[in-house]
Amino acid sequence: MPTVHLICGPLGAGKTTLARRIASERGALRFSLDEWVMQLFGSEAPQPMLFEWWAERCQRCRERIWSLCEDLLAREQDVVLDFGFPALAQRQEFRQRALACGAAVHLHVVTARAAQRWQRVQARNRERTQTFALEVTESMFQGSESWWEPPGPEEHRGAITFHQSDERSGTG
Ligand SMILES: Nc1ncnc2c1ncn2[C@@H]1O[C@H](COP(=O)(O)OP(=O)(O)OP(=O)(O)O)[C@@H](O)[C@H]1O
Ligand SMILES: [Mg+2]
Repeated sequence: MPTVHLICGPLGAGKTTLARRIASERGALRFSLDEWVMQLFGSEAPQPMLFEWWAERCQRCRERIWSLCEDLLAREQDVVLDFGFPALAQRQEFRQRALACGAAVHLHVVTARAAQRWQRVQARNRERTQTFALEVTESMFQGSESWWEPPGPEEHRGAITFHQSDERSGTG
């Protein structure tokens, strides 16, 4: 039975870093939504970024990625969905989609303190490190904080891992 790994957490927590690790350790295929949106549409992005513009393209890319995942799951290929998943409703939706494909689902929750995350995002903006996809401004960072609906341990009963990334050892 293939596994769908759902990676969720607030902005800058270390989700893409973890997604890359899971992909490399388990031979899963990683889909990082920010990379898709920026590679397909980044050259047309408004400056400053508009939430509606971003959300609409995220929606299109999520659906395209999911179509690919259905084919991959049918071939017993594990996948990692690095979509952010701040909202419970969206986590539930993709969980249902995965179960409907006969896949197992594992939820990974990545968190770190806000001050720590903002510092890391600023460093990523400056240094364009491996997981950089787009410049995140302070207002984007602050705006995103209210979207995060933290999962409790009961959300995935047994198929959930909490990664505390405040220390380097957290997501290693
Ligand atoms: N455990 C960690 N300890 C220290 N730094 C980390 C850790 N995990 C990730 N980082 C660094 O923090 C920055 C943010 O990590 P990453 O890009 O993986 O976050 P993200 O949750 O995917 O962000 P976004 O919400 O913007 O997609 C990166 O520069 C990354 O190298
Ligand atoms: Mg990321």
